[in-house]
Amino acid sequence: MAKRKEAKDKPKETPEKDPETEKPSEETVEEVTEEKEEEEESPEEKYRRAGKIASQVREEILPQVKVGALALDICETAEARIIELGGGIGFPTNVSLNEVAAHYSSPAEDATVIQDGDIVKVDIGVHIDGYIADTAFTVSFDPELDTLVEASREALNTALLLIRPKTNSKDLGKIIEDTIKGYGYRPIRDLSGHQLDEYILHGAKSLPNIAVPHGSILEEGEAYALETFATTGTGSVHETGQHYIYSLNPTRTPIRSQGARDIVRLVAREFKTLPFSRRYLAKHIPKLSLALGLRELTTKKILRQYSVLADTKGSRVAQTEHTFLVTKDGIEITTK
Ligand code: CO
Repeated sequence: MAKRKEAKDKPKETPEKDPETEKPSEETVEEVTEEKEEEEESPEEKYRRAGKIASQVREEILPQVKVGALALDICETAEARIIELGGGIGFPTNVSLNEVAAHYSSPAEDATVIQDGDIVKVDIGVHIDGYIADTAFTVSFDPELDTLVEASREALNTALLLIRPKTNSKDLGKIIEDTIKGYGYRPIRDLSGHQLDEYILHGAKSLPNIAVPHGSILEEGEAYALETFATTGTGSVHETGQHYIYSLNPTRTPIRSQGARDIVRLVAREFKTLPFSRRYLAKHIPKLSLALGLRELTTKKILRQYSVLADTKGSRVAQTEHTFLVTKDGIEITTK
């Protein structure tokens, strides 16, 4: 799921670390044996397991993305499979059509049906104890847009080949932009890939879709989702004003209504700081309480809302995404 560029979201240079000060911390025999006894799954293993589930769900969902299918069924089937396979929902499944680039997840009772001529982006999020896998693909039902899908896929694959520790994200942005423009389309400049952290979908460092003056340095051990957006439109998205996805901002602001308290309690338990859908809440909280509660929580900024993001009307957008870990000499794609 894409990170939107915000005014305050200035790119930062990561200072080069002095290898002399990077000695591993010393451990006592006791500490080492304790760890062995616990045999806890490491963060890397959790990223891998989340990735496996995400790729399996992606492969299962692909044949269901067809003309006549309900967007709601795709969202619900993907999310149910994630749970069945032992994962947690990293974010609500996005099914974004045509000029919509991101953040459309069906509301309850959504009647949206895939039509002939549509281009459909499906973006799936899985987590294991907060360690996330984020992967997306595009299906085109307009043969003229096959190269748009290819542009996005090719840009992702080319950029992934470049990455190793110390890669600068600005070099990834450049190759993504050049690849997509090579197909005669535009990259979306205000959407980007993003670092992943425990229970944090959009981490500190961004992976731009365009050449930027200053990037971030990718370091060994970090996790990222790289997503490339190719468009026939302007290359910029606007907020449509529809909101189907939210996440909890940890704050101490007092909450007044019972509905708002019910929402916060449910979300804190089920999703912590990860994005969730209004559709999920609608299954547990009565309609009026939910509407009033959401209004109070978004006004007080206790909930962050993700607006649906779209390029100009009539344009078409393709997206491809994988999650990877930066390893000693390259990357490991967890969602392959
Ligand atoms: Co993403």
